[in-house]
Amino acid sequence: MSTLKAVRGTRDLLPPETALWNRIEATARAVFARYNFGEIRTPVFEDTALFARSVGEETDIVSKEMYTWEDRARAQSEKTQTLTLRPENTAGVVRAAIEHNLIESGQLQKLYYIGPQFRRERPQKGRYRQFSQIGAEVIGPPSAGSESPLRDAEVLEMLATLLDELGIKDWTLELNSVGSSADRERYNQALRAALVPVVSQMCADCQRRAVTNPLRVLDCKVPADQPIIEKLPVIADSLDQESEKHFAAVTAALDATGVPYTLNHRLVRGLDYYTRTTFEFTHGGLGAQNALLGGGRYDGLSEMLGGPKAPGIGFAIGEDRLVLTLLAQEVAPPQVADAFIAPLGEGLNAAALTLARELRRAGLWIELGDGSFRLKKSFDAAEKTARRIVILGEDELKSGILTVKTFATGIQTKVSRAELAGFLSN
Ligand code: HAM
Repeated sequence: MSTLKAVRGTRDLLPPETALWNRIEATARAVFARYNFGEIRTPVFEDTALFARSVGEETDIVSKEMYTWEDRARAQSEKTQTLTLRPENTAGVVRAAIEHNLIESGQLQKLYYIGPQFRRERPQKGRYRQFSQIGAEVIGPPSAGSESPLRDAEVLEMLATLLDELGIKDWTLELNSVGSSADRERYNQALRAALVPVVSQMCADCQRRAVTNPLRVLDCKVPADQPIIEKLPVIADSLDQESEKHFAAVTAALDATGVPYTLNHRLVRGLDYYTRTTFEFTHGGLGAQNALLGGGRYDGLSEMLGGPKAPGIGFAIGEDRLVLTLLAQEVAPPQVADAFIAPLGEGLNAAALTLARELRRAGLWIELGDGSFRLKKSFDAAEKTARRIVILGEDELKSGILTVKTFATGIQTKVSRAELAGFLSN
């Protein structure tokens, strides 16, 4: 019989690495709280139409990478639905905001999420088929200031603060504007015209995109197409005055905070809903998949999904890539228990469990041995998992005086049971 393994592109996360995941998530939650964000949890699968209408039919995500299935009707009254494991979470958040009338509240909605996303991509370092995103969205009616460039700058400043607090060194913020939907339409026309003489030399996907959605030609990864893409017009030349003004205000506010950035006019991002500001934070240590996070403004998304006018901006961090970066960067000291309790004989197991209960309830991190272990085996196990070993034999149990050895110093100490928790926490 063949052995079963985790599916290609999925991974098991094990201790001690999971401690790092927890630390990242705790830091993100704490930073988001300081900026007045609240958590939203949406389902991991949605109606396929949600992604087709928002991310866009011609994007790589929707055209090639979604896990989609027909959900058969169980009752005659039910319709068969086409469902998709979410490849990203912005669409789901905006759908939820519309469904729960959050926009009508008149308030700016500041929502964050942490959770798995699914894309059928070719797995490689930093690219998985199930991966985790930490993301946030700021969305609301224009009257709440949702269109203000201040919101863009605040989100970018928050990200710089989060990466700094996580201890990520040497990140780069790349910034661009893809303009309003009218600017995008103008740019698409300029691209279409520029592609006419060269498109026959490009890959089949580009030949199709040149007709259906020329902007997506810029997402092409085929090496032979890159010299042609390099020579295409840039979107900066198609921006109208309003978009230029918005972008200038974003960069001016960022300049005031001192958050460093570089301009990248090729940064159009692989999803169709973006308008105006787009950005990525990259890290040189990640190799080919160098985007730690990406995001941007999506002023028309709510209307694309049948909702009210609700401009917004957000981002999603690739949590797997944060972990890779931190693992490469820091040699975190292995976490070990405060003490290992070694009962001398199986007759002392119950007493050892009682002692462990006392100490754990006092807030200590305790590993419990087993009375069937020889003393040598207990010492070996204790040295691997804890800072100290506490010996519990018949004499210790009767006298209430325990023997504690601290591995770092090699010193052996007699400690009364009443003082043990205090001693171990030092
Ligand atoms: P995205 O650029 O598709 O944007 O993904 C954001 C981040 O998720 C990437 O920068 C990367 O770190 C991570 N990521 C994407 N695909 C994978 C993968 N296969 N394996 C590991 N990590 C991956 C979005 O998803 C937008 N929803 C972001 C957004 C939010 N825009 C506005 N609001």
